[in-house]
Amino acid sequence: MSDLTLKIGRLVLANPVTVASGTFGYAEEFADFIDLNQLGGIITKTVTLEPRPGNPPPRIAETSGGMLNSIGLPNVGVQKFITDKMPFLRTLTTKIIVNVAGKSAEDYPEIIRILDAVEGIDAYELNYSCPNVKEGGLSFSANAHVAESVTKSVRAVTNRPIIAKLTPNVTAIGEIGLAVEQGGADAVSAVNTFVGMAIDIPSRRPKIAMVTAGYSGPAIKPLALAKVYELYKKIHIPIIGIGGICDTNDAIEFLIAGAAAIQVGTANFWDPCISIKIVEGLQTWCRQNHIQKITELTGSLKIK
Ligand code: DHB
Repeated sequence: MSDLTLKIGRLVLANPVTVASGTFGYAEEFADFIDLNQLGGIITKTVTLEPRPGNPPPRIAETSGGMLNSIGLPNVGVQKFITDKMPFLRTLTTKIIVNVAGKSAEDYPEIIRILDAVEGIDAYELNYSCPNVKEGGLSFSANAHVAESVTKSVRAVTNRPIIAKLTPNVTAIGEIGLAVEQGGADAVSAVNTFVGMAIDIPSRRPKIAMVTAGYSGPAIKPLALAKVYELYKKIHIPIIGIGGICDTNDAIEFLIAGAAAIQVGTANFWDPCISIKIVEGLQTWCRQNHIQKITELTGSLKIK
């Protein structure tokens, strides 16, 4: 057997395969399909201070090669998350990473302070990059100074690992990566969805009520891979690669480009077992290719 374990700061994952926020609910929804404990980690749907109903429909549209969504971070709010969702998550042995978002910069340390008193959380992923909410959202990771100061404010209230989830909708993602590293993030996850849109020609209406939306799925894989590579050349903290990963080979490409771990997102919607298939696929591929430790792959791209 090859050694699939890796470290994200002080966080040890049994393997590099995690599931992306918003594509896996609060994990219990997938318990009938897979052994959740075989995953490297689970990243919850975004939690906010107050409950949110989300955006008006239509909120989802399929395109060739991808999916547009503008869900608007609907969730039960932090108090109900703690009472209703954490008891199940606490029964799992895999790592639990809670994704959080704020309407304002001050929301981030406030919600983390509340969650820090809760047992069974292994790390936080800061959603700096939702393209679909009017307040906050994208603005937190589109500006390096803001990204650094929000990360600093979170660092000041927790010793748990912090992962900053970055938007690709910027000119220089490496600068944002450096800023959150400066702010004390243990890792980045890259990338969140690309801003996109689609139009229904007969009605000339947008296919999504909010007009623009987050674009994900296989179509974005080459774009996301280039962002991960750009980050790898610039920053010193681990990268969790995301963007259109649908099979084992996709995951391996992200590792070679510089990711230490990966997230499976949109593919969970058509195959709820895909994440486990990728864990098994990585084990088989490593054995066949005489890779003793998966960490050997990270950043192993050969340029010449
Ligand atoms: C939503 C949030 C995101 O971070 C994203 O990339 C896409 C959609 C949402 O809940 O609307």
